[in-house]
Amino acid sequence: MRKAYVAGNWKMNCTIQEATDLAKELVKGLASDANADVAVIPSFLQIAAVKEVVKGTAVKLGAQDVYFENNGAFTGEISTAMLKDAGVEFALVGHSERRHVIGETDAIIRKKLDALLAADLEVILCVGELLSERESGDTEKVLDTQVKAGITGLSSAQLEKVTIAYEPVWAIGTGKVASTEQAQSAHKYIRELVASMFTQEDADKMRIQYGGSVKPDNAKDLLAQPDVDGALVGGAALKADSFLGIIAGA
Ligand code: PGA
Repeated sequence: MRKAYVAGNWKMNCTIQEATDLAKELVKGLASDANADVAVIPSFLQIAAVKEVVKGTAVKLGAQDVYFENNGAFTGEISTAMLKDAGVEFALVGHSERRHVIGETDAIIRKKLDALLAADLEVILCVGELLSERESGDTEKVLDTQVKAGITGLSSAQLEKVTIAYEPVWAIGTGKVASTEQAQSAHKYIRELVASMFTQEDADKMRIQYGGSVKPDNAKDLLAQPDVDGALVGGAALKADSFLGIIAGA
C-alpha cells in the first residue's frame, strides 16, 4: 500500500509574511497521525523563511523549479546546490505552467530531472494533456511522450526518488476537476507504462499524484482511486484549512 503524498504548490503567490503564516498554520493543524506525507512548495524567495517553520516537522519542503547547471553565468536561475543549501528536499519539474506558459520542452525538463537526481534531491515530474489533446483522443499519446522523455534510462534506485504528478492542463486552476474515472484511467495508464519501462515492482512502488482543482470536497473520492496516490494542490493549498481538508481526505 502506497502512503498518500499531498503537496501544496503555492506558485507565484504570498509575501514572506504570508508564506510564513501559512506554513505555521499548517504545521499547527497537521494531525500527528495524518495518513499522508505532506509537502509545501513556496516560491524561491519564501523558501528560507518557510524552512524555519517546517524544520523538525513532518512537512517536506520543495521548490517549484530548478536550473540544470551547477553554477556560473546563468542570470536569474537557481541550481540544485542552492536548493540543497536552503534545505529543500525536492523540486517540481515540467509543471504545465512551465511547459505551456514559459515554453519548456521535454528535453529541458529531463535535464532538470537529471540534475536533481545527481544532487540526491527528489523530483515531482508533472505530466498532462491539454484540453485539445484530450478532445482529439490523444491523452495517452501525450502521457506516453512526456513520461518516456522524463524517466527513460533511470535506474530503479533513481526512479524511487521520482513521483509523477498527472495534471490535466484543462483542470489546473479552472475549477474543472477530472472525474474519478478520468483520473484513475490516466493514472493506471501511467503505472502500466512505468511497469513496461522498468519492472512491475518499480511501478507498484511509484506514487502518482493527481493535480488540477483538487479541493477538500473532491479529494476523498479522487484519493480513493486505486492508482491515485496523492495530490498536487495549487489554489486550495493557499489556505491552511482547505489544504488540511484535502490531507484529511487521504
Ligand atoms: P490547482 O493547481 O489546484 O489550482 O488546479 C494545481 C497545480 O497546478 O499543481
